[in-house]
Amino acid sequence: MPQGHAVNPRKSWPELVKSGIFTATASRKRPAAWMTSQARSAAPYHDMTKKNASPVCYAADADDAYMGYAPRSELIAALNILLEAERAGAKVALASANPPTGRNDPIHPAYRPLMLSVRDDEARWCTMLTRQIRRLGGAPSARTGEFYGKAMAIIDPLDRLTFLNRGQAWVVRTLEDLLRRVRDDDLHTDLRAMLDSHRENIDHADAFLSTARTANSSPAHPDP
Ligand SMILES: [Fe+2]
Repeated sequence: MPQGHAVNPRKSWPELVKSGIFTATASRKRPAAWMTSQARSAAPYHDMTKKNASPVCYAADADDAYMGYAPRSELIAALNILLEAERAGAKVALASANPPTGRNDPIHPAYRPLMLSVRDDEARWCTMLTRQIRRLGGAPSARTGEFYGKAMAIIDPLDRLTFLNRGQAWVVRTLEDLLRRVRDDDLHTDLRAMLDSHRENIDHADAFLSTARTANSSPAHPDP
């Protein structure tokens, strides 16, 4: 391998060959353990007539799962769980931004814009997840996560937002775990953006909750 090249374990074999990372000399080396079996059988060093200088490395035949990367079926399942959760979050945020007519609970003026912003973000990630699931050959789930029902059972708007933020924190933890096991560059980039966006939204909501709770606890007409 030429010096100065760092192997990106999430790049496919054809991408690495195209990038020039493997030269004719390098191609005689043992295949990298993270290569797919398809790439390995197409690799020029896969010459069974030659004796290996060292024992066969069976790890080289390992697939994505063996190497710690999530296989496609697992990715699709994980993305569908996230899709259902994001759909639930979008519905909760939209319903919270537009409470039933006649309701006169005192809600901070910034509450509705915040909820609409959360709704837009959740819808954006639903679109991304749907695209990625289809790209991986899966079928996007049409379900809405159970989170929706649990959140809508909370009447107080600030308590509901607190619960929504806990859901967002679950998404962050899920994405952090998943990202460590994603080799696909395109998917990794999208999930990373989703993770960053969720972290920002959690911070915004926390700041709003702090302000709104302080305002609610302050008497409108302080005693003389
Ligand atoms: Fe979310």
